[in-house]
Amino acid sequence: VLDIRKLYDEADVFTFDPGFTSTASCKSAITYIDGDKGELLYRGYPIEQLAKESSHLETCYLLLYGELPTKGQLADFTTRVTKHTMVHEQMHNFFRGFRRDAHPMATMVGVVGALSAFYHDSLDITDPWHREVSAIRMIAKLPTIAAMAYKYSVGQPFVYPKNSLSYAGNFLRMCFAVPAEDYEVNPILEKAMDRIMMLHADHEQNASTSTVRLAGSSGANPFACIAAGIACLWGPAHGGANQACLEMLKEIGTVDRIPEFIAKAKDKNSGFRLMGFGHRVYKNFDPRATVMKESADEVLELLGVHDNPLLQVAKELERIALSDEYFISKKLYPNVDFYSGIILEAMGFPTSMFTPIFAISRTVGWISQWKEMIAENGKIGRPRQLYVGPARRDYVDVKHR
Ligand code: ACO
Repeated sequence: VLDIRKLYDEADVFTFDPGFTSTASCKSAITYIDGDKGELLYRGYPIEQLAKESSHLETCYLLLYGELPTKGQLADFTTRVTKHTMVHEQMHNFFRGFRRDAHPMATMVGVVGALSAFYHDSLDITDPWHREVSAIRMIAKLPTIAAMAYKYSVGQPFVYPKNSLSYAGNFLRMCFAVPAEDYEVNPILEKAMDRIMMLHADHEQNASTSTVRLAGSSGANPFACIAAGIACLWGPAHGGANQACLEMLKEIGTVDRIPEFIAKAKDKNSGFRLMGFGHRVYKNFDPRATVMKESADEVLELLGVHDNPLLQVAKELERIALSDEYFISKKLYPNVDFYSGIILEAMGFPTSMFTPIFAISRTVGWISQWKEMIAENGKIGRPRQLYVGPARRDYVDVKHR
């Protein structure tokens, strides 16, 4: 095998790192994670401080431009984003082409990818202004697109954005308002949604972000790159974990069945994992999970849903797993998706909307990383491989096989 590789590999040094566990694919000044300490910094600011003091839109500004905005800069940024929250009316026809029972992530991959069909300026990524306007358009339109996917799936009319509301409040209204009925955004739910968005906003070179960078390295337009990121996020080992986690809690059903599922998770041959537990980088408590747990408590208190059997299973599962030797020794803690799923369930979102909400939140991270990569004028991403197939051999005519 090595001889064959030598035939076409000019490099003397070759690394083989499946899953990229120890290979940096780029330099980045956006997000820092210390997995052992359980620390997450956006542009140097600890996530706990941002979650307490900042808002998702302010954090978007920070991630995109590197510094916290002044009051004037934040007002200007908010105006620029809200100006772009509507989608083209032709998009409605696009949605109507999908089956009603389509998964909203499937719809989003298609619709976001198709945005470049409406904004031809996005095809010229050499112009910084085009990159900037594409970034703003995506941050603004993703909540509208996700809410439309939801409304379409439940057979209700689309709700247009209301730009006097906050980013999170507007999204809740687009999902839950129905014609002829008043809809007041509850400030506690609005804050919880804002936190979900902020805590998911960026997470350095995770699978979907790396996908966006790789797609972008070929010069593809930003809408196509973000659609690629959405597709990657959908997987249950990544953004799809929040849906998979809630589905697992439903399957467990009652507290007395938890030991059976814990035993299954410990059994290598079962192929089963406790969804919402473990993380590639955090080998300590995920700092986002700590903040999210607080939010979950607030939301459950507000909605008075403590007796919800699903949530009881979640709390008990968390308690048992945190004191179980298997999970302790492998440093498997509940991750952010464990708690975000509980909050979204309590708010009334169907599980199929969990990953689209993650996609809305991560959009700013994807775009910030994409912009950083383009500005650096980097090389096209082109991983090598360790070839393990047959050595050179001669073609055999079908008559002789
Ligand atoms: N349940 C049971 N065992 C687990 C779990 C789990 N959730 N996660 C890891 N393990 C075990 C593995 O079987 C392995 O055991 P071994 O050492 O005996 O072989 C060990 O812990 C290490 O697991 P790896 O798969 O090597 O860890 P990796 O860092 O590659 O995986 C991942 C991280 C994918 C997140 C994993 O923990 C997992 O599948 N978790 C469930 C899915 C999930 O919640 N994903 C969300 C991630 S967070 C996010 O995307 C925002």
